[in-house]
Amino acid sequence: MPLTHAAVAAASEALEVSRDAAAVFALAEIVLLDVTDSTNKYAAERARDGAATGLLVVAEQQTSGRGRLDRRWESPAGAGLTLSLLLRPDVPADEWPWIGLMAAVAVADTLTAHGVARAAVKWPNDVLAGGHKIAGLLNERVETPSGPALILGIGLNIDQSAAELPLPTATSMRLATGSAHNRAGVLASLLAQLSQALQRAADPQARRTAYLQSCATIGQIVRVELPAEAPLTGEARGIDAQGRLLVATGGRVRPISAGDVVHVRPAR
Ligand code: BTN
Repeated sequence: MPLTHAAVAAASEALEVSRDAAAVFALAEIVLLDVTDSTNKYAAERARDGAATGLLVVAEQQTSGRGRLDRRWESPAGAGLTLSLLLRPDVPADEWPWIGLMAAVAVADTLTAHGVARAAVKWPNDVLAGGHKIAGLLNERVETPSGPALILGIGLNIDQSAAELPLPTATSMRLATGSAHNRAGVLASLLAQLSQALQRAADPQARRTAYLQSCATIGQIVRVELPAEAPLTGEARGIDAQGRLLVATGGRVRPISAGDVVHVRPAR
């Protein structure tokens, strides 16, 4: 069923209801687009034009949805959720990765609440269901006249059939649970989870605990494709204070800040 502006507004009201005094963001404006090239691009343009924190952009269809590491995000019109949230975090830039990490936890928690089994985060912020990719996040820093902004971009597969997914390693909520899901209802849960997650992102102890609970990467032998050097293989041992993945390889532990991780097998 197509999302309507009323349904998206109702979803954000669910956020208001779930929000307590300590919640860290409120939706300032909701934009629902039938088609756009990329919600992240749209939100970035609005940020440069002065849009306030809390702008939510939802699109029924993206023609050039973007993924991490210059990949594409493909989703048929109306099949999933493709959205971007503009934030202007009032914390030092080296804290920003935690916002993305916690947003991924929020997606995994949303999936669990909707009956998806074995929903987990793959470092840094892919979300898996039973080992298959079900959601991805692209978090981008944008320079604007009033300071840097963060665009949290989320793509979540909801109603896709196997034939509609770009890769055999991907899945959707429908495939994972065997039943249909109301996209506005999933959006409402996601916004509520995001509110909690962003609150936790400000607390070093709480965010670390939440991320480690949700992250399936720790304890795996991983292969990491690095942006500017040869891939490495090693054991994912943990996360450091900056949210970097700690990989034991070649007799030392390397902190990885960016890369594409493949889970090879459990370490033991
Ligand atoms: C990835 O898995 O590599 C990240 C995918 C992120 C896709 C979302 S869809 C909404 C937002 N707009 C974009 O162009 N990309 C993100």
